[in-house]
Amino acid sequence: MEFFLDTADVDEIREIAAWGILDGVTTNPSLIKKSGRDFKEVVREIANICSGPISAEVTAMDTAGMLQQARQLKSELPENVIIKIPCTPEGLAATKVLTDEGIDTNVTLIFSTSQALMAAKAGATYVSPFIGRIDDTGHDGMNLIAEIMETWSKYDITTKVLAASIRHPTHMLQCMQLGAHTATMPAKIFKQLMTHPLTDRGLEGFMRDWAEVEAAGNA
Ligand code: E4P
Repeated sequence: MEFFLDTADVDEIREIAAWGILDGVTTNPSLIKKSGRDFKEVVREIANICSGPISAEVTAMDTAGMLQQARQLKSELPENVIIKIPCTPEGLAATKVLTDEGIDTNVTLIFSTSQALMAAKAGATYVSPFIGRIDDTGHDGMNLIAEIMETWSKYDITTKVLAASIRHPTHMLQCMQLGAHTATMPAKIFKQLMTHPLTDRGLEGFMRDWAEVEAAGNA
């Protein structure tokens, strides 16, 4: 399973990349705004920290505008930058053209299995269903991941399912169990997934005992 970071904060990306298991990064216009930095400059820096796919989102609403922005991003930014496109009819058309040009895409803001399958038909490299935002409406976002994975199992689809809008470690656990190919999460959740109170308590005990082994001159 690929683990992506969902942030445009380069300090967070450097910290998690140092763990050696970071597979990619997703950004969106809101995360770029939060970073307070220039869009291309920050995406370039991220792409130099992490060698995996870095999603940079187009902001045009029409197909021609999306294509123009996508080609410009691909020509100005490092090779591992991929193009994030909203799941609209215009976005679908842009995804098909970019796929034919050999440009990798991440179709975002997916809230139904039909949208995911149509984006896959257009050749999307990744489709991003947003779990947490469905939970926010009072429904279970995880059902969408289950439904998409079930549908994927019936066809020969190469598009990867990238679970997005992940809000807590249980979302991640369920994504792992459902076989989602990829998940993107905030740094806070990366840290929560790697932390366990029994690991900390166990290590404390080992270190305390080791200090006594050393004090006894037996180290
Ligand atoms: C994914 O690519 C999106 O950037 C992200 O997961 C959205 O998450 P949010 O719903 O917490 O904003």
